[in-house]
Amino acid sequence: MAGPFDRFDVYEYDVLVIGAGGAGLRAAIEVAHQGSRVGVVCKSLLGKAHTVMAEGGCAAAMGNVDPQDGWTTHFMDTMKGGKFLNNWRMAQLHAQECPDRVRELERWGAVFDRTPDGKISQRAFGGHTYRRLCHVGDRTGLELIRSLQDKAVHTDGLTVHMECTITKLFTDAEGRICGAFGYWRESGKFVVFKTHAIVLATGGIGKAFRVTSGSWEYTGDGQILAYDAGAELLDMEFIQFHPTGMVWPPGVQGILVTEAVRGEGGLLTNSEGERFMKNVDPERMELSTRDIVAKAIYREVKAGRGSPNGGVFLDISHRGADYIKMKLPSMYHQFKELADVDITKGPMEVGPTCHYFMGGVKVEAESQMTNVPGLFAAGEVASGLHGANRLGGNSLGDLLVFGRRAGLGALDYLQNTPARSELTEQMINDAEADMLGPMQRSEGECPYAIHKDLNKTMESGVGIVREADGLKTAIEELKTLKARAANVKVEGSRVFNPGWHLARDLHNLITVSEGVARCALQREESRGGHTRLDHEGYDDYWSTVNSIVKKAKDGTMEVGTQPLPQMPDELKQLFEAEKK
Ligand code: FUM
Repeated sequence: MAGPFDRFDVYEYDVLVIGAGGAGLRAAIEVAHQGSRVGVVCKSLLGKAHTVMAEGGCAAAMGNVDPQDGWTTHFMDTMKGGKFLNNWRMAQLHAQECPDRVRELERWGAVFDRTPDGKISQRAFGGHTYRRLCHVGDRTGLELIRSLQDKAVHTDGLTVHMECTITKLFTDAEGRICGAFGYWRESGKFVVFKTHAIVLATGGIGKAFRVTSGSWEYTGDGQILAYDAGAELLDMEFIQFHPTGMVWPPGVQGILVTEAVRGEGGLLTNSEGERFMKNVDPERMELSTRDIVAKAIYREVKAGRGSPNGGVFLDISHRGADYIKMKLPSMYHQFKELADVDITKGPMEVGPTCHYFMGGVKVEAESQMTNVPGLFAAGEVASGLHGANRLGGNSLGDLLVFGRRAGLGALDYLQNTPARSELTEQMINDAEADMLGPMQRSEGECPYAIHKDLNKTMESGVGIVREADGLKTAIEELKTLKARAANVKVEGSRVFNPGWHLARDLHNLITVSEGVARCALQREESRGGHTRLDHEGYDDYWSTVNSIVKKAKDGTMEVGTQPLPQMPDELKQLFEAEKK
């Protein structure tokens, strides 16, 4: 007898991990190591992830170069960098567990640069008190992914499904996860995953912006899969514009220029040859936190003191060609091949690029579980660790520490939730109909035009600096974009059809953008990755709350606040002691 799901590919796992960057792979490895069956789904090919864009290193207080370093200093740096909106417990766990995760990665094959006495080498980065970033030249994220990928493919019980996009998470009558629906990008066929625990590890939202260090995958999928399933989102207004992306030629605008250039002594100057960071952060200069450096560059350009192509100058040539080629080989080749600039001989032109999303799915610190039973999130898609601004180098540790914790959290949940519901035919039929809509319409708009307009709206109203009028305009424009996206029409078949893929991505991109714009309007202060020209500086009330977004019963977006988790006295005292 034919079953209700016979027309689909169907897989069944104990845990399904969506996303195969650092967090997803680390979560999946943990699940498989504990003896459970885990499926990993990735939109792209295995090994291609935004993780590689954390080029300069992984922060871990190992004290190899500066022996005074320890987890308490790393914890305090992370809280200060996040302007104290961080979830203190996540910041504590992260600082405490990073060194073990780095040593584990080394055992799994990562080859870090060494100190003269053979320890893992550590370099300086913005906002870190000590030289703390364990690195592999300027390809640390790539080494991390390669090591995890190698470990994953040699781990029993772990299956990877490449070029597969998930469009819907299913929950039962009690709101618990019971499966997921998606399509194979190549064939366009649909696929059903039966599972009772899902770890989201889908990364960020870069493609909401025109200039970004992220590639086509970063469409806010995890944030909106979670939101649509009933999860709360936290601190959506905080977006990190990395200070240094390429600005020229136009085809490569936004590609990352690693902070390691500044970590290795790179100097920022304006068109008048002035090291303008002295006017903003004379103590830390180029190694100030990213939010501060990005805004300083933005202001120099606006004031007419920018470089010819709309950025500023970053020069490392004084370190000499041999040193640059050893420590920054990718940057050397990137500028030589893409911009015909030799960075061993003169400056690069750089400007801010959308790089990272501090906001995201709200999770519990220890287990990474969301408020939807059975749904977990780790890495950039989750929120809490970084507060209002992430320190460079804190994302790779985040992926390792909280990827592992999410895997363990999912297993713990399964052990303690014996009674489970199964998928129904109706759920699958609805998910299928939703995906087929754009193909079945007789008329409608092309999705690419809507994406282009979304980028314009976000850049002009919700970018590096914001104000109430611009945010209100953006929210109105987003409403229009949402209506246009709901009536999009796609030509051609389902076989590898990027227009059809984008039609779905627009739902995620526009919804995530609405969350960002609404939270940005709500937060009447400037802090970290959120700058309000009409509300400069910190505000007392806004120092005490995180922003919260959730989907109301009628489908509209509800935006509010919740009090910050209270830091225990022994951690507060660390900051008090420092003041004395
Ligand atoms: O600049 C960089 O190498 C990026 C690092 C990060 O985002 O952590």
